[in-house]
Amino acid sequence: MGVRRNFIVLWTVALTLVVCDVSNNKIEDDDKLITKKRTLSECNLPTKLKTEIASYASTVEKIINAAVNGSFKGVTYQELSLFVDTFGNRIAGSQNLENAIDYMINKSIANGLDNVHGEEVQVPHWVRGFESATLVEPRNASISILGLGNSVGTPPEGILAEVLVVKSFDDLQSKAEQAKGKIVVYNEDFVSYGSTVIYRGKGATEASKVGAVASLIRSITPFSLNTPHTGMQTYGQNVTKIPTACITLEDAHFLQRLQDEGRTIKILLKMEAHTLPDKTSRNVVAEIEGTEHPEKVVIVSGHIDSWDVGNGAMDDGGGFFISWAALALLKSLGLKAKRTVRAIFWTAEEFGYVGAYQYATRHANETDNFIFMMESDSGTFDPVGLQYSAGTTGGCIIQEVMKLLAPINATRTRQSPSVGSDIEIWTSEGVPGGSLDTENDKYFWYHHSNADTLEVENPQSLDKNTALWASVAYVLADLSIDFPRETTDG
Ligand SMILES: *[C@@H]1O[C@H](CO)[C@@H](O)[C@H](O)[C@H]1NC(C)=O
Ligand SMILES: *[C@@H]1O[C@H](CO)[C@@H](O)[C@H](O)[C@H]1NC(C)=O
Ligand SMILES: *[C@@H]1O[C@H](CO)[C@@H](O)[C@H](O)[C@H]1NC(C)=O
Ligand SMILES: *[C@@H]1O[C@H](CO)[C@@H](O)[C@H](O)[C@H]1NC(C)=O
Ligand SMILES: *[C@@H]1O[C@H](CO)[C@@H](O)[C@H](O)[C@H]1NC(C)=O
Ligand SMILES: *[C@@H]1O[C@H](CO)[C@@H](O)[C@H](O)[C@H]1NC(C)=O
Ligand SMILES: [Zn+2]
Repeated sequence: MGVRRNFIVLWTVALTLVVCDVSNNKIEDDDKLITKKRTLSECNLPTKLKTEIASYASTVEKIINAAVNGSFKGVTYQELSLFVDTFGNRIAGSQNLENAIDYMINKSIANGLDNVHGEEVQVPHWVRGFESATLVEPRNASISILGLGNSVGTPPEGILAEVLVVKSFDDLQSKAEQAKGKIVVYNEDFVSYGSTVIYRGKGATEASKVGAVASLIRSITPFSLNTPHTGMQTYGQNVTKIPTACITLEDAHFLQRLQDEGRTIKILLKMEAHTLPDKTSRNVVAEIEGTEHPEKVVIVSGHIDSWDVGNGAMDDGGGFFISWAALALLKSLGLKAKRTVRAIFWTAEEFGYVGAYQYATRHANETDNFIFMMESDSGTFDPVGLQYSAGTTGGCIIQEVMKLLAPINATRTRQSPSVGSDIEIWTSEGVPGGSLDTENDKYFWYHHSNADTLEVENPQSLDKNTALWASVAYVLADLSIDFPRETTDG
């Protein structure tokens, strides 16, 4: 292998790369950077390698046929339905999450997968409890809210205070002297998830710094049917922790209009939110052991926890289920690659990649053997291809591999600085990785809301995603060369 690695490095020098940035409309889960599109207009991979990759066409076709039109047709959706209907949502710290983890461990054992086990992780245990917001001036109205992760609660009688609506952090600074004792409402414009989510993440902290008693944040979504969206927030050091929740886009606009009309606005906010001691959860691991280099690993992954609203069918039910399905499918087809294909269902992703950080620490001595890491956490809509983080040679290899997905029209490759949530712990350190790229324009319509139910998922799309996931993992795990780990990318 060492020899072949050198051979790839030499070829890197000969590569020609044309970079072109196009407008970013990619949407991403959880505090991530803007994605840039890059086109590899010309790749000069060795003919031998291209031929080798192309020779997987019949195997990939077999995988696709089984998933889309054969023994595995509809299985991913059926199994996801059963899972979602059985457990519903699965917030970190809940017994529900642990039951769901047991279920996936049992299922993976029943599938005959190798080394199936859970790895313990201490996770936060935040509990929402009852919550309500009521407009009491200038008229009575109920305001839909969802408290934000880590938020503290209000006193039992609630917080009754005047409202100050701001458009941005700058706007808040310019109105700082009016904020004291008030409930600050952020009516920020939605630009992109990655750039706008800072209002959810830091809104309470900034409001607290200017003396606010609570903060309500317009949900981070481009579209709303009066649906609030929850998510993580973190209090800054030394600030007074004030209760914080998201409100709907509609109510943010409504409160803005009331303020612009010059009216005094008062809200009564009641939240029972509180944090209990950490609980023990588990990352779930299952494998198809490699036949020649079992210590070298291609990882497919998604997170098994969810928020405590909706059913977590999309975020990240479908996302982690295709990793289960990819292994179950490969197993049922008797496909064993030279290297190990490992599925990991991360726990407590929503509370800051807690399971993944634990895994990174515990498996630090294995990192050199992580050949390629994959994650699906941006929806499992109709697949278009793969986003990847890799060097130039790696990008060219991905491009060749994705050509094999032509039968399901999912051949697109895009280089991205941000290819996952959990796996970014590794990809940011130079481990090559990829994330599922789908027609996910509507992802944030449902994300972290009560609308995240099985209705968002589609059997045909899930079949194609399972096929893509199994194919890419299998081919990269089976190639004669280790996927190149290049430190820089021109
Ligand atoms: C599915 O399989 C059937 C029977 O082999 C075949 O007639 C049909 O064309 C296939 N459909 C697709 C979409 O591949
Ligand atoms: C998993 O399997 C164990 C052992 O067979 C069983 O006791 C347990 O009830 C199963 N759990 C779930 C959630 O299916
Ligand atoms: C608003 O609700 C409060 C409490 O339920 C009630 O006492 C009050 O009369 C209502 N105000 C109006 C204008 O309806
Ligand atoms: C918080 O307070 C501690 C102790 O006074 C201080 O050392 C630290 O720098 C403060 N942190 C911030 C972010 O202000
Ligand atoms: C990593 O460390 C663990 C525990 O210390 C050990 O069991 C395992 O064999 C090591 N793996 C490698 C690849 O060195
Ligand atoms: C293939 O996917 C592209 C988007 O990646 C889409 O524009 C095109 O219509 C699709 N073609 C077919 C035949 O579905
Ligand atoms: Zn997610």
